[in-house]
Amino acid sequence: MAVRPVLRMGDPRLLEPSRPVERFGTTELSALVADMWDTMRALNGAGLAAPQIGVPLQVVIFGVERNPRYPDAEPVPHTALVNPVLTPLGEEREEGWEGCLSVPGMRGLVPRYRRLRYQGRDPHGTLLERTVTGFHARVVQHECDHLAGILYPMRIRDLRNFGFTEELFPGQDLRDE
Ligand code: NI
Repeated sequence: MAVRPVLRMGDPRLLEPSRPVERFGTTELSALVADMWDTMRALNGAGLAAPQIGVPLQVVIFGVERNPRYPDAEPVPHTALVNPVLTPLGEEREEGWEGCLSVPGMRGLVPRYRRLRYQGRDPHGTLLERTVTGFHARVVQHECDHLAGILYPMRIRDLRNFGFTEELFPGQDLRDE
C-alpha cells in the first residue's frame, strides 16, 4: 500500500461531486481504503476523503484515538464509510475549529449540526448506521462535504475566524481532516 499525494485547495478536482461505489469487497476498493489509511496516518490526520487523493468515489475514513495531551477530546472509532448518507437530528448547530489536509497549516471556525445519524456501508458492503454528536458528528460532516466538492472554508460564517494554525493556536499540535 502507499501514501498518496493529497490534493490542495485550488485543485479543481476537490470541487467535483464524487460517485457512489457500486461494487463492494473488491481488491480495488480494499486497496483504495488501505492507501487512504496510510496517507491519513502519515500526515497525522483525523480523517480523509477519497477525492482528496484524486479518486472521485464516495469513500471516507476517520478516527481519533484518545490523546493524553487532549483529555477533553473525545475519541472517534476508526471507520471506513462508503456511500454515506447523513441525516441531521434537530436544527441545533455549534461552531468548532477545523483543519483539513487539503488546506494545510490553517484553521477555521465552522458551524456543524450537533447531532446526526449516518448510514452507509463498510468496504465489504456491511451496513453501518450510527447516531453521533459533537466532534464525531463534526468529523463526519467535514469528510462527507468533500464528497460534494465542499471544503470547510466555504462554510466559515465570519472570515475573521480563519487563519494560520501557528498564529491561532501557537504551540499546539492539532489534527487536520
Ligand atoms: Ni478535509
